[in-house]
Amino acid sequence: MFETLTKAPGDKILALMGEFAADPRPTKIDLGVGVYKDEQGTTPIMSSVKKAEQKIFSGGKTKTYLGIAGNKGFGAAVLDLALADSVDRSRVRITQAPGGTGSLWVLMQLVNRARPGATVWVSDPTWPNHNPIAINSGLQVKTYPYFDTETRGVKFAEMLDALDKLGKDDVVLLHGCCHNPTGANLSPDQWDKVAASLARTGALPFIDLAYLGFGDGLEADAYGTRKILSSVSEALVAFSGSKNFGLYRERVGAAILVARDAAQADIAQSQLLNIIRGAYSQPPRSWRGNHPHHPRGRRIARRMGSRTRPDARPHDPPARKAERSHPPAVEFQGFRLHRRPSRHVFAVGAGKFGRRTT
Ligand SMILES: Cc1ncc(COP(=O)(O)O)c(C=O)c1O
Repeated sequence: MFETLTKAPGDKILALMGEFAADPRPTKIDLGVGVYKDEQGTTPIMSSVKKAEQKIFSGGKTKTYLGIAGNKGFGAAVLDLALADSVDRSRVRITQAPGGTGSLWVLMQLVNRARPGATVWVSDPTWPNHNPIAINSGLQVKTYPYFDTETRGVKFAEMLDALDKLGKDDVVLLHGCCHNPTGANLSPDQWDKVAASLARTGALPFIDLAYLGFGDGLEADAYGTRKILSSVSEALVAFSGSKNFGLYRERVGAAILVARDAAQADIAQSQLLNIIRGAYSQPPRSWRGNHPHHPRGRRIARRMGSRTRPDARPHDPPARKAERSHPPAVEFQGFRLHRRPSRHVFAVGAGKFGRRTT
C-alpha cells in the first residue's frame, strides 16, 4: 500500500522550530511558531491555569463525551468575548473545535459543502497553513494584495480594489487582528471600507481570529470582526484560544457561523456537526467543564476590555516598563490571566516580517 506514496514536504514553521532548538548561538531569536515567551525564553503555565486545573481535576465528576458541538457555556462566553452584541444571536451558531486550526478546517469543509471548489481569497502573504487547509478541503486559493514591503503597511487601495471585484461565490479570508506574518493591520476606517465592500459584493467573509487581545487590547482587536459581522448577512469566524488563554496544547478553539436567519443557521450548523462527526467525532474536554465560576461572558469581556491597556503598544518602552511593574490582570472563564511583557513573536519563515509584541 504505502509504496505508492512519496515523501510529503515538511511544515516550514515546525522545521524552523527544530533548527532553532539545534542552534547553539546564545543570541538566537525564535521567529518560528507564535507562542508567548517570558524573559527566560520559556512558555510558562500561568498560575491561574494551574489553580484552575487543580480545581477541575479534583472536582471532576464525569469523563463522558461532551457532544459534537462541545461545551455550551464555553461557546456562549466566546461569543460574548469576540462578537459582543455585533450580531443578533439567533443567526449565530458556535461549535467548540480543536484550536484555531481545527476551527478553520471544519469551516473550510462547510464552505466546500455549500460551494464545492469555491475560491478562498487570502492576503499576500498569509499564515502558511491557510493554503493547505483550504486545498485539502477541496477549495481553491487565490491572493489579494496586502503587504507593502516598502512602507511595511497594508496596500489598502489595491486590497480594496481586489475585494470590490469579487462575487457572492467567493470567500475572503481576513486576519481579525495581529496579521500573521506581517504585523500590518487595518485601521478602523479601513475595516469599515472592507465591511462595506463585502456587504456590496456578497463575498463571504471568513475571519481567522487567532490573536484576540494581543494587539491593542481585546475591544480594539475585536473591532474588525464586529464591524464585518454587523454589516453582512453571512460570515464565518475561526476563533483560537491558544495564544490569548496561553493554552496551546489543550487545543482550545471555536468555529462560528453567521447565517441570514435562524432557520439557515440551523441547517448550516447541522452540516457542520455532520462534518465533525465524520472527522473526529467530538471536541476535546472544554476548559470550562467543571469550573465552579460561570460569570457572564459579556461582563467578563467588558472587564477584560477595561483592564487591558489600549495605550500599551509594542516597542513602547515606557508602556512596557509600566506593564512590567504592574502587569494588567484580565479575567475570563473565572481564570485570572496576567498579561506580562512577552517576547511573543508573530513572524514565520525567514523572519523578514519579524515583530515583537506584548
Ligand atoms: C493566523 C493564525 N491562525 C490560526 C492559528 C492556529 O492556532 P491554533 O494553535 O489554535 O490551531 C495560528 C497559529 O499560529 C495563526 O497564527
